[in-house]
Amino acid sequence: MAELALFGGSKTKQKPFPLWPQYDDNERRALNEVLESRVWWRTPGTKTLEFEKAFAEYHGARHGIAVTNGTAALEVTMAALDIGPGDEVIVPDFTFIATASAVLFANALPVLVDVDPDTYCLDPELTEAAITPRTKAIIAVHMGGHPVDLDRLASLAQKKGLHLIEDSAHAHGSEWRGKKIGTFGKAGTFSFQSSKLMTAGEGGIIISNDDPFERQARSVHDCGRMPGEWFYSHFIYGSNYRLSEWQGAVLKVQLGRLEEQTLHRHRNSRLLDKLFAKIPGITPQKCDPRCTRNGQYAYIFHVDAKQFAGISTENFIAALNAEGIPTQASYPPLHELDCFRSGEYRKCLSGTQATEKHEFLQQRFPHTQRAAWETVWIPQFALLGDEQDIHEIAGAIGKIQRHAPAIAANATQATAERVAR
Ligand SMILES: Cc1ncc(COP(=O)(O)O)c(C=O)c1O
Repeated sequence: MAELALFGGSKTKQKPFPLWPQYDDNERRALNEVLESRVWWRTPGTKTLEFEKAFAEYHGARHGIAVTNGTAALEVTMAALDIGPGDEVIVPDFTFIATASAVLFANALPVLVDVDPDTYCLDPELTEAAITPRTKAIIAVHMGGHPVDLDRLASLAQKKGLHLIEDSAHAHGSEWRGKKIGTFGKAGTFSFQSSKLMTAGEGGIIISNDDPFERQARSVHDCGRMPGEWFYSHFIYGSNYRLSEWQGAVLKVQLGRLEEQTLHRHRNSRLLDKLFAKIPGITPQKCDPRCTRNGQYAYIFHVDAKQFAGISTENFIAALNAEGIPTQASYPPLHELDCFRSGEYRKCLSGTQATEKHEFLQQRFPHTQRAAWETVWIPQFALLGDEQDIHEIAGAIGKIQRHAPAIAANATQATAERVAR
């Protein structure tokens, strides 16, 4: 039986995974065109404008507003919806901080809600229970590329008169019942940060089918200007969230690869589902049959330590990385972050909202806890590999399972040595 790479044996993975980000002469040409045009600024430019139109059209949206990053996309959305002091916005406890910090940036309260135990996306039932007369919006995250239950959340938002915002930072090209995500509610927001499914290093976009919202959001992202009006007229609160022409040009090229890459990742992930079904203790994030295409920002799976000699997730990940399989970190529960624990977040609030008890912070969030501390994430670029790569991921996990008692013994010895010191 081959020795674990962690203890000096040979790695399962000898052939490297595809590199990320991907680029070729098309990005080179696009960047050179911007360079030589001397139009590097979005305002008089054409590249970012063309990209906005193409990205929106690809997702079945009438409008796209490119912004500096995915956090900015959420902040502009909050401002355009006039969300402010005294308001509450429902946000999953299991997400990146930006989903909640954009609400705090608007001086409103992010109310944290637990996720579904199988999809790790916002739980619709708990969302409904968290609605109060102050609730103005729900920000749902398509975790790892898997859409939230859009049937239930869209109808809940409609029934209660709330804005539904899809934080789609992980889900470019994902589909729910054959329709691209991003337009099931008021707006969809995306990130183009380096690890995302298409990238210009940084960047973001808001898409929407709502004309008045689009006008407002476009104005907020451009210092409160209105299209067609004098350059130095500023009608509402706004800031500079514009994307540069460099990024617009690169993203237009990246968008051209999205369809093929999404299909490739979706296909490989379903193969991984089948291979993992044969490994006791490995439970992949559920792919709901209504998710007809999963952008698969990450392949997330739960590890039952009992089937791996009780080893910690940390030790499992170290062994997997040693076998040559890359992973990316899961998110800690938001309610456990310093800014919530210390009360620092209250500085963004005012009036009674700043001082009253926030009951949701007393909850346990069991499904977020499990997702945060017991799941392993395979990054999207590894899913762009070939079938052999996918078989090797499963092979590495099988190898770890066979050698788990050795990992457990090593961890026990390391702890004993630490205590003795
Ligand atoms: C779920 C989610 N929302 C929002 C963001 C913010 O995007 P950005 O990093 O582009 O500001 C991210 C980025 O990591 C994210 O994962």
